[in-house]
Amino acid sequence: MTILEVQQYKQDRKKLVAVTAYDALFARIVEQAGIRVILVGDSLGVVVQGRPNTLSVTMEDMLYHTKLVAGAVQRSLVIADMPFMSYQVSPEDAVRNAGRLLQAGAAAVKLEGGAVMADRIKAMRSIGIPVMGHLGMTPQSVHALGGYKVQGKIEDQASRLLEDAKTLEAAGAFALVLEAIPVDLARKITQTVSIATIGIGAGPHCDGQVLVLYDLLGLFDGFAPKFVKSYAHLKADTLQALGRYKEEVEQGKFPSDSESYH
Ligand code: KIV
Repeated sequence: MTILEVQQYKQDRKKLVAVTAYDALFARIVEQAGIRVILVGDSLGVVVQGRPNTLSVTMEDMLYHTKLVAGAVQRSLVIADMPFMSYQVSPEDAVRNAGRLLQAGAAAVKLEGGAVMADRIKAMRSIGIPVMGHLGMTPQSVHALGGYKVQGKIEDQASRLLEDAKTLEAAGAFALVLEAIPVDLARKITQTVSIATIGIGAGPHCDGQVLVLYDLLGLFDGFAPKFVKSYAHLKADTLQALGRYKEEVEQGKFPSDSESYH
């Protein structure tokens, strides 16, 4: 999958399917499932590192996880999140850090924020780095937003988000993540811009959807917003497996003869 194919999906009205991955094992499984857009999300700060939010994720963390994922897949578009403070200060920082993520194996980067990020996106595009925008509930601004809240519910917020989407498109973003915004606003943005919109908590009218892998698998049992759907219950399965293992060791049933060398 390339960024040109992402654009083609939009033109052909084919839904894009994206999911996060943070390591080689899961990246391979995601690719085996036929999912071709993999986001190395800074959500790893919460689901892998156990932090309360994504703010403490560093460039070194993102480089490490991007290498693991990109090294494990062959056909997927790997997009790496730019962590907090890797692009906010200046376009120069943005270009330098995005370049490092591409050197680690990503084919594109994602950053959060509206029109104020246009100069970063232009600078990155000018040297050939594909950029995905991220609008709506932007987790790196959790404190400014007063928590993880739906954005764009009131009219002036909604029109600002629509303007932001147009500005990011004009700056050269190849796609936009729309997070936690009302269905009608996501539809309007999707119909207005010619680049692909990937929704998470933005309803069914986006050009594609993305979910955090550990949420989708039912592995993560921390805070789960309304838009999360678990397609499996791996935490429950893991607990059950570990419970059986513990019991069998304690009762002397594991290892049995067939699990032993003679
Ligand atoms: O960090 C992440 O996983 C994300 C997705 C939720 C879009 O930004």
